[in-house]
Amino acid sequence: MNYTRVKIKSMKTASMGTLSFFEGGTDKLGFEIKRFYYIYGVSKDTKRGGHAHKRLRQLLFCPYGIIKIILDDGKEKRIEILDNPSEGLLLEAGIWRDMYWEVDDAVLCVAASEFYDENDYIRNYEEFLKWKGEDR
Ligand code: TYD
Repeated sequence: MNYTRVKIKSMKTASMGTLSFFEGGTDKLGFEIKRFYYIYGVSKDTKRGGHAHKRLRQLLFCPYGIIKIILDDGKEKRIEILDNPSEGLLLEAGIWRDMYWEVDDAVLCVAASEFYDENDYIRNYEEFLKWKGEDR
């Protein structure tokens, strides 16, 4: 499946916690960041996602809490857990994702390659399978 689990550079400072960072382009995201968004205030057992993107590429990470992400490219499914602020998922286009909040108030951050465009979404799973079948 066309995604990778990536390490986000992190610096530990003895008694002052940890600072994590990445930089667009130079840090090999593979795209320039056009948009950054985050989701918070979500209760445990909430399901979000339920869509794929036609062009959008994203880096997802969870700086606080635990989020389970089920990825599906129409051929196989993979389960990924985001529970470490210094790890992320670099998702290429064309991957269906369902996201489950495993604890209250987990935060999902996303660095994205494009501005928001509802036409880039596929929100119907049958439509997604059909789109994937068209030689993608
Ligand atoms: P959506 O991407 O469906 O959220 P999730 O996959 O986490 O459940 O977005 C939810 C709503 O927010 C949808 O109506 C579109 C809107 N939205 C924007 O207006 N701008 C954005 O950058 C994003 C990500 C969503």
